[in-house]
Amino acid sequence: MPEMTPERWQWLNRYARSVFGDPDEQLATLVDRATDAGLPSIAVSPDVGRLLQILAASTPGRLALELGTLGGYSGIWIARGLAPDGKLITVELEPKHADFAEAEFASAGLADRVEVRRGAALEVLETLAEELEEGTVDFVFLDAVKTEYPDYFRAIKPLMAPGAILVADNVYGTGQGWIDEGYGTDEFNRLIAADPDFLATAVAMREGVLIARRM
Ligand SMILES: C[S@@+](CC[C@H](N)C(=O)[O-])C[C@H]1O[C@@H](n2cnc3c(N)ncnc32)[C@H](O)[C@@H]1O
Repeated sequence: MPEMTPERWQWLNRYARSVFGDPDEQLATLVDRATDAGLPSIAVSPDVGRLLQILAASTPGRLALELGTLGGYSGIWIARGLAPDGKLITVELEPKHADFAEAEFASAGLADRVEVRRGAALEVLETLAEELEEGTVDFVFLDAVKTEYPDYFRAIKPLMAPGAILVADNVYGTGQGWIDEGYGTDEFNRLIAADPDFLATAVAMREGVLIARRM
């Protein structure tokens, strides 16, 4: 087994981004536009975006939910993986982020397929639980408050269709540190891993990406 060094890990991340990078100008320039507009630079990387699109496209792609919109980078990838009449509801607390993302969805030609819901994810989920029928969501991406992932999961589980896919970012670490240092989402990882209704694993992309299928 070749040794995994920090240098090799960084090289592999750069390699993944160059081989599996942004497919067009809109996505390639979005993060820089967002940073110029004062948004934090914490969007997923292009290789993770590509994974989101592939996974969304492997479901019927009728309805997707994202918690944590930021500038719309991951949302564009997800929306592009949905069925032609599919819809993404993406939830964002910060009005400035929501405004920026709405403009990006519009210039990506996705205005009619993406709805930005403004507010705190847990409160919006209470509303969505009343609005949406159980078992109608095909794809979920968790990327808002990491410590709230267990509550997001409990609220979203009844909404997920059999065969639906849930993806969660930062399951091995956050901008502050790694899971062995007390960061990341250990409680959530163990909750979904122990749930007999889900088949879950995590891949070591960026700070850890969990992928789970509702059985
Ligand atoms: C890591 S960023 C999302 C990145 C985005 N998914 C992407 O990859 O392009 C997290 C976002 O969640 C938002 N956020 C923070 N607390 C929230 C909450 N309680 N409810 C909804 N969104 C929240 C932040 O304002 C930020 O825009």
